[in-house]
Amino acid sequence: MAYRAQLAWKRDEVMRAVRTGLGRPVQVAELLAPEEPRGHRTKIGLRIGGAAGALTAGLFAPHTREVVAISECEVQDANGTAFALRLVALASKLGVPPFEEESGRGLLRAVVVRVGHGTGELQVTWVLSARSQQYEPALTAAALEAGALSVALNFHAEDGKQLAGSRLVHAGGAARIRAEVCGQSYLVSAGAFFQTSKFGAEALSRQVRAWAGSAPHGRLLDLYSGLGFFGLPLASRFREVVAMEESHAATEDGIASAAGSGVRNISFREGRVESSLRAFLRSGGEATTVIADPPRSGLSAEVAEMLTSELTPERLIYVSCDLDALARDVAVLTQGGMQLEEVQPVEMFPMTKHVETVALFRPNPVLAMARRMGGRR
Ligand SMILES: C[S@@+](CC[C@H](N)C(=O)[O-])C[C@H]1O[C@@H](n2cnc3c(N)ncnc32)[C@H](O)[C@@H]1O
Repeated sequence: MAYRAQLAWKRDEVMRAVRTGLGRPVQVAELLAPEEPRGHRTKIGLRIGGAAGALTAGLFAPHTREVVAISECEVQDANGTAFALRLVALASKLGVPPFEEESGRGLLRAVVVRVGHGTGELQVTWVLSARSQQYEPALTAAALEAGALSVALNFHAEDGKQLAGSRLVHAGGAARIRAEVCGQSYLVSAGAFFQTSKFGAEALSRQVRAWAGSAPHGRLLDLYSGLGFFGLPLASRFREVVAMEESHAATEDGIASAAGSGVRNISFREGRVESSLRAFLRSGGEATTVIADPPRSGLSAEVAEMLTSELTPERLIYVSCDLDALARDVAVLTQGGMQLEEVQPVEMFPMTKHVETVALFRPNPVLAMARRMGGRR
């Protein structure tokens, strides 16, 4: 599909999802999209194939685990891809055996390169099937010599298509690279989530900042905060920001990023939003503005219920990367007493079927009045 046609199709899909959730048609803005769809992806993950001394790197062919070697990839940052391929050539010279999907033998499964937004700093993660005293030091040294600022090792023994496993250790260089988005600096470790599109990260950040308002005496809740991607740049507009995130690495990165940027009024609560938000409400916590950027599965019923029945913020900015979750969450939030005010799709993943959507909700005045008068919702 031609790029412009993709954008129109994605807007229709968002319109359809929102209409399904609301039960009536709704206007949706044109996608915020880059002029040029190429070169935006900053996280480059290449699977390893071939043989020891003659490694290849690329992507799995559809529905198989056969590595199709690539020499470039148009949606990815060109320097990042070239760097990843250079690393694979170095691993090849070292004689590292590739992991064999069929037999489960071999070591090197993938290499992941992250390019710092706005800084170009390079972070490398070697994905290995097991620990290896023989190759770990050499792979780490090779990546550092090639120009990586930060090197990590990921151990992935599972039989699955996932690119990487859950165990990760810092192996050399700096623990974090620096990224900069719309003037905010972030310190990012290899294990933490960071937005993967250069254009998308900026557009998303700008849109959320535009809708977040400001309340010098109010509190902002940044739910599913990662390293405080939204909360950090908004901290100067609120008395306090509370960020909730389950990943230890992202939480630690958020604390480091706040210290590095001199932001003192943000605190991070590590744990599932389900339990952190429950504890926050039990202690009488309130919020003026809430940002919720859940994973693909969307809001759990428990979190949606707490947002609509107990927290009822003046503004709820909801970010979705999945159309089914968007439809369901629009239904749950509006039935729970919020009113959908605006919908802005963002082109995060050009040349794929995925689309990111930002939606602004406010309390439904009729339901809010009924609630004040003690009426049933
Ligand atoms: C789509 S990412 C968004 C992160 C951040 N808002 C950003 O823009 O960089 C979703 C985040 O939610 C976290 N997460 C997923 N499920 C969670 C849960 N139940 N409670 C807390 N955090 C969760 C993930 O670790 C991830 O960092």
